[in-house]
Amino acid sequence: MARVALVTGGSRGIGAAISKALKQAGHTVAATYAGNDDAARAFTEETGIQTYKWSVADYDACAAGIRRIEEELGPIDILVNNAGITRDAMFHKMTPQQWKEVIDTNLTGLFNMTHPVWSGMRDRKYGRIVNISSINGQKGQAGQANYSAAKAGDLGFTKALAQEGARAGITVNAICPGYIGTEMVRAIDEKVLNERIIPQIPVGRLGEPEEIARCVVFLASEDAGFITGSTISANGGQFVV
Ligand SMILES: NC(=O)c1ccc[n+]([C@@H]2O[C@H](COP(=O)([O-])OP(=O)(O)OC[C@H]3O[C@@H](n4cnc5c(N)ncnc54)[C@H](OP(=O)(O)O)[C@@H]3O)[C@@H](O)[C@H]2O)c1
Repeated sequence: MARVALVTGGSRGIGAAISKALKQAGHTVAATYAGNDDAARAFTEETGIQTYKWSVADYDACAAGIRRIEEELGPIDILVNNAGITRDAMFHKMTPQQWKEVIDTNLTGLFNMTHPVWSGMRDRKYGRIVNISSINGQKGQAGQANYSAAKAGDLGFTKALAQEGARAGITVNAICPGYIGTEMVRAIDEKVLNERIIPQIPVGRLGEPEEIARCVVFLASEDAGFITGSTISANGGQFVV
């Protein structure tokens, strides 16, 4: 059945692949972004998918944006919490600002986006929530105390909410991508990528955004109704939980 899907950070990187795959699966997709208007415009021109600009770190903006999308497209049955940022620094150099920005976006953003759609999903007795966490939330990563904490928090959020949503037909799951070849990862120094990161990935390559998107499409489908509170690790064998 075609449903309305909202993908945060859905105009670039992994989120863009998720938006396109959900559209391909027959859903009506809305994609949000934070500030890169050019990328959002190009994405809409290429895909026909409508984009909406606000920060997931701002609760009131999330509530207003979601209201607008529901008025324009209908009730949101699928929410993909994908928007995320990095502000890397070794802990002794990490500033309170770097900590706060990452927690506000990567962890509190999930509360801000999920809270306004939750009542509607409960009333309709149907919902699919997919949270994009990270391998570094599972194993921790030096230089990413802020990011690892937020992404581990996303997994706790997923497991708690899955228990609350189960009787209301709402599933809540997480995906932990390993290193995927998006701008976020390609921004890493090429020498570090080729000599230190890729050799740690047993399949011998970065993942493709579409490989994460296909996991999302499955978890967002009616077929996945018995899967809730779970985490899919999509990391090329780099970290086996
Ligand atoms: N790439 C990887 O290897 C990897 C691995 C593990 C997990 N992840 C996770 O996967 C997700 C997507 O990563 P990516 O590599 O595709 O990132 P990306 O290419 O940098 O794209 C990030 C997207 O999120 C949006 N965004 C950032 N902050 C936002 C905010 N406050 N409010 C709304 N939207 C915001 C960006 O909007 P603008 O276009 O306006 O900037 C952009 O659309 C993130 O949660 C990331 O932590 C990525």
